[in-house]
Amino acid sequence: MPASASEPVSPLRAALLAQGGGVVLVFMLAFALAQLTQLPFWEYPLLPAFLQGATAALIAHWLRAPRWWLPIHFGFAPLAVIVQGFDIAPGWFLAAFVLTLLVFWRTDQSRVPLYLSNRQTATALAALLPTAPIKLIDLGCGAGGLLRQLARSRPDCRFIGIEHAPLPWLLARLRARGVDNLTVRYGDFWQESLAGYDLVYAFLSPAPMPRLWQKARIEMVPGALLISNSFAVPDIAPTGTVDVPDRRATRLYLYQMDKADDSAAFPAICPPPYRQ
Ligand SMILES: C[S@@+](CC[C@H](N)C(=O)[O-])C[C@H]1O[C@@H](n2cnc3c(N)ncnc32)[C@H](O)[C@@H]1O
Repeated sequence: MPASASEPVSPLRAALLAQGGGVVLVFMLAFALAQLTQLPFWEYPLLPAFLQGATAALIAHWLRAPRWWLPIHFGFAPLAVIVQGFDIAPGWFLAAFVLTLLVFWRTDQSRVPLYLSNRQTATALAALLPTAPIKLIDLGCGAGGLLRQLARSRPDCRFIGIEHAPLPWLLARLRARGVDNLTVRYGDFWQESLAGYDLVYAFLSPAPMPRLWQKARIEMVPGALLISNSFAVPDIAPTGTVDVPDRRATRLYLYQMDKADDSAAFPAICPPPYRQ
């Protein structure tokens, strides 16, 4: 059940509740039908599977799950029934699950999946770097492509990436080999202080932006720049924006930390608009 009118249930909990609710309802219906009609209900497993899917999608809708979850809930059980007919060894499903986990890790908690900044974005970012050497961090550096391109174009600057998903981290680590001004670390960027960085780059999702803004305002030094790819900080006017000439019309949101607004008593909710 939603915790409050404005707070949706966590994605994993909503998914479990929706699917579990669907299973319970279909079992109850099947039991009732079997008592009443003596029909061999389970000889046609696609029928209860679709019923379960429809119920799960309805429950997910009621729990205010994002809309793109609804077809997943609807199709999950029917697809499982169909795939069973292909007689695939169970090990393949386990392998697919492990691979997905290694790539996406705890997306259910972070609410940040893996998608990568393109070359045009890296070029636009490189153009924003000052002529003096700086230290830049990519929060959740994925497979490290962006940092590698930047590090090669600016050997005088230091580039750091932090990533918590094992497979992208490993790739980023391998790609950083031989690039002296690039360091890739395994870990959670929420545990990393942003105090030592002149530029913080983030390509995340709408979900963590309010928390990231609070962290940046508390930890980043005056004058330092936070750049968010595609996702603006809600209710905060960016210092500037840069439109990248690529096919997905990438927009970079720039937030420069200001001396005047740098107060330790930064309000936890609804911070004041930043410098326009
Ligand atoms: C959208 S991708 C962006 C990848 C890269 N920054 C780029 O622009 O190409 C976001 C990445 O952040 C990682 N991530 C999400 N939350 C994280 C956290 N708390 N600590 C470290 N990495 C995280 C995800 O695993 C994912 O690889």
